[in-house]
Amino acid sequence: MCGIVGYIGTSKAVPVIFDLLKRLEYRGYDSAGIATIGSSIQTFKTEGSVDDLVSITPDLAGCIGIGHTRWATHGVPSSENAHPHCDNAGNVAVVHNGIIENYIELKDELIGSGHEFVSETDTEVLPHLISEYYNGGLESSVRNALSKVQGSYALAVISTDDPDKIVVARKDSPLVLGLGDSEFFVASDASGILKYTKNVIFMNNGEIGVISREGVEITTMDGARVENKVETLEWTAEAAEKSGYDHFMQKEIFEQPISIRETFSGRISSEGVNLEVPVPNARRIVIIACGTSYHAGLFGRYAIEHFARIPVEVEIASEFRYTDPILDCGDLVIAITQSGETADTLAAIREAGSKDSHKLGITNVLGSSITRECQCILTRAGPEIGVAATKSFTSQLAVLLLSAVRLGRLRGALSAADENDFIYELKQMSANIRRVLNCAPSIRECALLFADAEQFLFMGRGANYPIALEGALKLKEISYIPAEGFPAGELKHGPLALIYDGVPVIAIATEGMVYDKMLGNIKEVKARGAIVIGIASESDTRIAKYVDYVLRIPDTDPWIAPVLASVVLQLFAYYIAYHKRCEIDKPRNLAKSVTVE
Ligand code: G6P
Repeated sequence: MCGIVGYIGTSKAVPVIFDLLKRLEYRGYDSAGIATIGSSIQTFKTEGSVDDLVSITPDLAGCIGIGHTRWATHGVPSSENAHPHCDNAGNVAVVHNGIIENYIELKDELIGSGHEFVSETDTEVLPHLISEYYNGGLESSVRNALSKVQGSYALAVISTDDPDKIVVARKDSPLVLGLGDSEFFVASDASGILKYTKNVIFMNNGEIGVISREGVEITTMDGARVENKVETLEWTAEAAEKSGYDHFMQKEIFEQPISIRETFSGRISSEGVNLEVPVPNARRIVIIACGTSYHAGLFGRYAIEHFARIPVEVEIASEFRYTDPILDCGDLVIAITQSGETADTLAAIREAGSKDSHKLGITNVLGSSITRECQCILTRAGPEIGVAATKSFTSQLAVLLLSAVRLGRLRGALSAADENDFIYELKQMSANIRRVLNCAPSIRECALLFADAEQFLFMGRGANYPIALEGALKLKEISYIPAEGFPAGELKHGPLALIYDGVPVIAIATEGMVYDKMLGNIKEVKARGAIVIGIASESDTRIAKYVDYVLRIPDTDPWIAPVLASVVLQLFAYYIAYHKRCEIDKPRNLAKSVTVE
């Protein structure tokens, strides 16, 4: 949800800011803007993409600047509503990610004191507040302004009154500072900065930073000095580049043999699964997540209940946080969030903490907000730029399988021999994903037969049911074709009414997941005219008689087959969206990190 960036150093700021913005465009892409300081603050803003901004911005000499790529919340996408926003004198410019909740009251007060507003945004109150409370120094003025503000923010401020500084502040929205050689970077997340430096400071809630060419000084809102905790990023700069692929999503799908290997690295061996999972004696596990991570959570429920015999509930974070959930110290609450920044998921894990439940996060991003809230397991999928989650999803599934097995062993629900057999299969997962990817041409050929379909249905049973939901989500996210996933056993309770002559149904029919019943469900939709594409194991000799097309995955354990099936569905969605010339990496109206409610 919006990306903010900043640069101060000895090079021209504008090219660096454009580059940083392009790397963060997946966070929002309906409008963009930039401000630098020359003899005065120079601001350029436009509706549209960062490329549109580049085309209207002249060559500017300033070596300090801030930029923004927007996902509209308050006010339509337009150049007026694009950031940076300035005060009336044009001395202060602000970029902001978050929501100022009390902006209407603040705006009324400021208008009463003579301030004039030009946008519909909540953010515009910030530069006006800073100028209203200006007391001779930018940092203290920002501090004064923020004391009036309720809501969430990551912000970067520049001012002609203090032209060699960027002041940044963070509350509930992510903010990373990159430390280069006499140059410093600001970004909403680390993947933006990777090309320039691997040395970063992840700012904490309630901190204000002052960045000059000499360095970074961080203090709390009360002014107490904070020791700079510099961390080194492990991701490579190349990992955040397209590297010859047409889309980040395509690259990320094809990276899964590597990302899965990384997820397992050091965590599986002949000794068993080596993963620190807290509270094996928990009475109950509650998994909270949104979007694709929620689908991973549903899969996790099946796996944990199977391997560890612990009751598991899965909740959508935005629902969970407002339902006064019944939790206690016997519960382990697991928050799954690829970005580690989803506002609803963070709020839900805090809710769990307030009820004394144990907490665990599963995230892909080191230093993200969730890692500050609770103990976390990193999925290690590497940077994921495409808005539609792919490799982060399969790594979440892999971590959930590891957690289920570990808990099963710790609780005595799983024997060492069964653990070993399963580990053998886990070790094949990366190679098996590669074999699925080698079938990409035939998956493409099949997908293109249905590229003009008006709707799709996806069905599965057991652990394949969440994969059906995820397959449908991938397709609708990037191709905009209406698609619904459902548990095949529910067919007769509604979805069957959607079946008509020629409607494509994708049936995930891997063995072990109530296979025979699945064949029965396939017959039911076929009898009503559906064209069925089955996803089945290589050695399955029965499926071909039931379906119109078969997409094969390598033979494997029934708990690993859903992971392989999800790779097939990612490719299926990708090729349809490609054919339809959709904006695959930046689907309409969506953003990768939903940092607002
Ligand atoms: C957004 C993204 C989805 C993602 C969801 C949850 O909607 O577009 O791809 O699954 O947020 O994100 P998280 O980072 O919490 O996994």
